[in-house]
This record gives sequence, structure tokens and C-alpha cells, in this order.
Amino acid sequence: MLTQAAALVDEGGIVLDLGSGTGSTARAFRACGREQLLWRFFDNDPELLDIAGSQFAQAELVVGNLADVDALMLDGVALVTASALLDLMPRDWVTALGKRLRQEGIPFYAALSYDGKMRWTPPLPQDKAVTAHFNLHQCSDKGIGGALGPESGAQSAEVLRGLGFDVKLADSPWTLGTDQAALHAELLDGIGTAATEAGLPEGTEWAKTRRAMVKNSQAMIGHTDLLALPS
Ligand SMILES: C[S@@+](CC[C@H](N)C(=O)[O-])C[C@H]1O[C@@H](n2cnc3c(N)ncnc32)[C@H](O)[C@@H]1O
Repeated sequence: MLTQAAALVDEGGIVLDLGSGTGSTARAFRACGREQLLWRFFDNDPELLDIAGSQFAQAELVVGNLADVDALMLDGVALVTASALLDLMPRDWVTALGKRLRQEGIPFYAALSYDGKMRWTPPLPQDKAVTAHFNLHQCSDKGIGGALGPESGAQSAEVLRGLGFDVKLADSPWTLGTDQAALHAELLDGIGTAATEAGLPEGTEWAKTRRAMVKNSQAMIGHTDLLALPS
């Protein structure tokens, strides 16, 4: 799906990346051979934008709040992208964005939205409860309203299809192996804390136990990619 999204933009075309962070979407496009795109990175964190800008010299850096969809600069934009963002956003936000993109005839590629599924090898009895509570936490308000969380792929597809987009969804699981123990351990802390905050006191202890076995564990964190084409 990444290749299909990347093919929608001509060399030198402008891509607006929402919630760009340090520019991981652009790095993924570059890794699939698209090095000559003009990136417009949009985020509310100027420090992350500076890092993105240091890696893409021609990029435009825009500090702003995604809440104001009407203020997004879409002039000259051939494609709007987002990575690991849709699950943080409310359904109303996706509707507002979809309406603007539909009006302008701009396609939308949203990669790596968390889909609510997590699995570890070897398993622990608390994995299911932690996942359920983490998923609850994912639906909390991240600043713009109740987030879609694990439903973000399916619900965004429904919204965008309703607005007349041709929408494709694809599973895009993220696997953390024994060679990514440090990243895995960091992730476990975040999951445990979120599960605890969502009402599972054992979440913190679970993270500690899993951290102790991280060098011999694997994790699968389910994600969905979405491509919406204005028909
Ligand atoms: C989970 S990170 C994803 C970053 C990057 N796209 C990636 O895949 O690594 C979400 C990003 O959205 C930004 N963000 C969250 N809420 C925002 C808002 N209301 N306005 C602008 N940026 C926001 C954060 O600063 C962060 O960089």
C-alpha cells in the first residue's frame, strides 16, 4: 500500500504529513525510492519538526494544531499522509478532514493505526487484561476529543467511504523481536502505565515482569494501513 500511495505523487510534488513527528512517513517513502518529494511537515511539537527538517532539507515545517482542520494548508498538495496518528483522533476529526480532502480531490494515506491486537511470545496470563485496558486508554481524549483508538482503521474507512472515497485497508503488524529488546522494553512501560491508568493496577507489575524476560520475547502489535482515493 505504501508503494501505491507513493505512486500518487509526481517527482517534486508536495506531500502534507499530519502529525509528522520526526518525519517517519517521509523516511518510509524515501526507503521505497521516493527521494524527490517536497514534504510539508505539520506537528504541534517544534522540536520534532526540527529533527524532521534536518533530514529533509527542502521540507516546509508547520507548527500548528490539527484540531483546526479548516486551517490546514492544502494549496498545491498532491497527497496527505499520516503515520501512527488516526488512532489518536476522534471520528469527527476524520469526518472534517475527509470533507476538506474530498472538496480538493486529494488522496489520503494513513499508515500504522493501532488496531487493538497485541500478542506476546511467550504469553503471560495477564496479557489479555492488559491489552483490554490499554485499548480502553487508547480511546481517551488526546486533546481533540475521544480518540478512535483500536477502531480507527475501520471507522475512518466507514467515514471516508461515506464521503465518496474509494478506501482500502491492510493489516500492517509491527513485530518486535529479540534484537529490539530496548525498544520493546520502552514500549512495555508505556503499555503497562496506560493499562494501570485505565483501571488495571497490575499493569505496572506486568510491565516489570515482561521487561525481565524481554531478551527472550517477541511482541506483535497490530496496525492497519488505509488508503483513500477520491473517486
Ligand atoms: C504517535 S506520534 C506519530 C509521529 C510520526 N508520524 C510517526 O509515525 O513516528 C503522533 C504525532 O502527532 C503529533 N500531534 C498529536 N496531536 C497533535 C495535534 N493536536 N496537533 C498537531 N500535532 C499533534 C505529536 O506531536 C506527534 O508527533
